[in-house]
Amino acid sequence: MSQLSTPTAATPTWRLRNAAFWDGVRHQYDKRDIDAWDDSVPYEVTNNPDFAERCAQGVLHYVISCQADGFQGQFTVLEPGAGLGQFCYLFISKLHALMNIAGVDPSCLTYILCDQSEQTRDFWSEQPQLQFYLKREYIKIEPFTLDSHQGFAKVTSAIDDYDLRNNRVILLANYFFDSLLQQPYRLIDGVYVPHEIGKPRSQINKKLTSLSFKPANTACDDSICGVSQRILDEFAERGIEYVLMPEGAMAVIQWLDQLSDHPALIICHDKGFSDLSQNAYNATYHIIKTGQYASCVNFQALGRYTELALHGSCMLPSPYDSGFTCAVFHTKVRHEALAGFRVGLEYLVQSGHSFVRMYSQRYLSRYELAEDLTGLFAVLRELRFSLHALVEQKDFLIEKLRQADCLDHIDIDGALDAFWQHYYFTPHRKSQTQLIALLEVALHAKRYVYVEDKLADYASWHGKDYAFKKISGDLYFIQSDFASAAYYFTEAMNDNPDCDHCKQYLTHCESLL
Ligand SMILES: C[S@@+](CC[C@H](N)C(=O)[O-])C[C@H]1O[C@@H](n2cnc3c(N)ncnc32)[C@H](O)[C@@H]1O
Repeated sequence: MSQLSTPTAATPTWRLRNAAFWDGVRHQYDKRDIDAWDDSVPYEVTNNPDFAERCAQGVLHYVISCQADGFQGQFTVLEPGAGLGQFCYLFISKLHALMNIAGVDPSCLTYILCDQSEQTRDFWSEQPQLQFYLKREYIKIEPFTLDSHQGFAKVTSAIDDYDLRNNRVILLANYFFDSLLQQPYRLIDGVYVPHEIGKPRSQINKKLTSLSFKPANTACDDSICGVSQRILDEFAERGIEYVLMPEGAMAVIQWLDQLSDHPALIICHDKGFSDLSQNAYNATYHIIKTGQYASCVNFQALGRYTELALHGSCMLPSPYDSGFTCAVFHTKVRHEALAGFRVGLEYLVQSGHSFVRMYSQRYLSRYELAEDLTGLFAVLRELRFSLHALVEQKDFLIEKLRQADCLDHIDIDGALDAFWQHYYFTPHRKSQTQLIALLEVALHAKRYVYVEDKLADYASWHGKDYAFKKISGDLYFIQSDFASAAYYFTEAMNDNPDCDHCKQYLTHCESLL
């Protein structure tokens, strides 16, 4: 059990009920498995090449600094609640590329990809882009669950059986801490009174934030340990009315810290508050539903917990950066001596906000300003050849490719390769749409061998469906193989008789044959 609890005290009812609420969030993810990301829970912010590369840079700085400081052991990266696994793929491929440049041996680091859901873990073990790394054991897959035990957070993971005592462990928590057990308190007459979270009873007309918070039948919480109480006292001294205490995240950090004799590094990306006197929780405790219940993480409490209980340090984002931010915690080291580590991670912390801006519509609309293909590819490069961006602007890009007399001045092959490196298969419509966009763009750029090659992958992952047949028809038509084109257009029309494009091109084929 977590040290955050007082095992002798009988667990109060409000604590058991709140634990049941957060356990419910976990069960919902477990039930929905990777389909949680089929358009219901947003995930682009943490599963894109730019974000993965920045994280890889931060971790590489840490690795280099530790080695320069004399550490000769292994590094173990843990990613709990990893969802699709796409971040892991992008991160590890970027990290290996950067290690290559920096002359760091990639075998010094193992990535443990974790999720509570068995089906998710089964999906990863077959996922095509992960295979290279799984086979060479750069990536391992393990279960990781945080649930409640008598109202307190408790970690269960196969990682407990690993011997990581001499390793440097690094936790990458992307949109993870916000779904774990968090406890609402309200300052009443100078004392924090715990509140019980109530879910809406009616399923009809339920609003996004229709949770209720009623004071627990107790003057204060005497079930928490001294450090949590001290953190609450500090908040009380500053008159902060509403506090959400991240008990689940605290338990995860504590669990991580005890795995190794060395400091543990935690890099957390989430919506969060680094200074509660600047960004206060309101009466809803910012618990909202975005596919599932989640909240702004109390980074300030996590920072104090790392300092007080784990003798560590933290780097928190600017208080004004609360939309999506990065916070870094480092246990067992009060004053960090590793210079490169600070530089790399401070950059990561400071740039947290830019991820969101990058994916906002305003930023993407810069495409419209790109007058020619050179400008357009410059913007695509700036967005690190993200397939999300490619889908957004596919039509505009194809139009520009059609209008271009000559493509020799543009590194089309480099761009297509970069997009391909970032493609990650999932059995969802979004993943299919991304591959279709890539094939269509490559076709209009006249890269026929590339299209043929990737169409074979499309067929083995998504099946020989209507899109496969239509693009195959286009591919053969454009190369003047009208018999093959006619075959594929006919096949495509069997699947989709309303396809005007196939109808029209089939007529062309018949007249040319
Ligand atoms: C919001 S999703 C984030 C997924 C992924 N990290 C990303 O950025 O797209 C939260 C993840 O945490 C996992 N999770 C939620 N509650 C959990 C718990 N109590 N214990 C273990 N995993 C949990 C879910 O299964 C899910 O994978």
